[in-house]
Amino acid sequence: MHAPYGGVVPEIAARAHLQTLVPVIERALENASTRWEQVDGIAVTRGPGLVGCLLVGVNLAQAIAWARKLPVIGVSHLAAHVFAAQLEEPELRPPVLGLVVSGGHSDLIRWQADGGITVIGRTRDDAAGEAFDKGARILGLPFPGGPAIDSLAAKGDPRAVRFPRPRAPGLDFSFSGVKTALLYEVRKRKSISDQARADLAASYQEAIVDALLQRVEAAQAEYPAPTIVLGGGVARNRRLREAAQARLGQRTHLVIPAPELCTDNAAMIGAAALVEWERRGPDPAPFDADPSLSFS
Ligand code: KG4
Ligand code: ZN
Repeated sequence: MHAPYGGVVPEIAARAHLQTLVPVIERALENASTRWEQVDGIAVTRGPGLVGCLLVGVNLAQAIAWARKLPVIGVSHLAAHVFAAQLEEPELRPPVLGLVVSGGHSDLIRWQADGGITVIGRTRDDAAGEAFDKGARILGLPFPGGPAIDSLAAKGDPRAVRFPRPRAPGLDFSFSGVKTALLYEVRKRKSISDQARADLAASYQEAIVDALLQRVEAAQAEYPAPTIVLGGGVARNRRLREAAQARLGQRTHLVIPAPELCTDNAAMIGAAALVEWERRGPDPAPFDADPSLSFS
């Protein structure tokens, strides 16, 4: 739906939520061979995100909860990317150091022993996923750009071009410089062969992955934690998964959920609800969507 526009169109997304949500819920129950009578509560994303989509979700969740006399809890989409790790390792407990890299966020967080989440690093400009998506557009690749760069990069040489490693002060990220460097690199060439495009994709991906892991290493030095968790759509990236294993996995317990639990999914919202439920119980309805919600 969004591909012809080269990005997500909020209006189209909100309408699609309205049209597909009820059939999707019915199909999910059917696939899980579950009846409504077996459902103990409803979990829903309260934010952050596009307000139109969030409103459809929080209103439907509260309507079902009211009609079925079920408790309902609204959770943070970002925290859910961290808690997705518990679907892989149910015994996983904080303290945890986490990297959440998605289309809208690049955050380094500490999931503390008391259950709270604090942000210790964030992006100063583009998110990592945005850097992938915009880089893909510069390279003439289809939307969404992350998966396109990931597959093309597999055929390229990551050392072909040395892109600057994006740095920002402290534990923050910055990706606009590397994106501009890619743009200049493409502009200065008259034509780009398939191999050259693959080399550029691989080199660009390498710069982003290196910058991400460098910050995780710095965060681990400053706030040592027994476990590191990666989450968000960009954590699907094969080079990131492989390099994280090599650079962090030797010394620390590293959890990178299965690819389908890294991209946006409803299972992680359920996982987040279980964690939050233990801390604070259900939400009193009515509650509102919060497009700028952080980790809690
Ligand atoms: O978490 P997510 O599914 O949605 C948001 O919450 O934003 O993340 C989507 C982002 C997009 O920018 C997409 O290009 C990126 O994740 N992404 C990837 C890969 N798969 C998805 N980036 C790099 N490599 C991938 N394989
Ligand atoms: Zn996400």
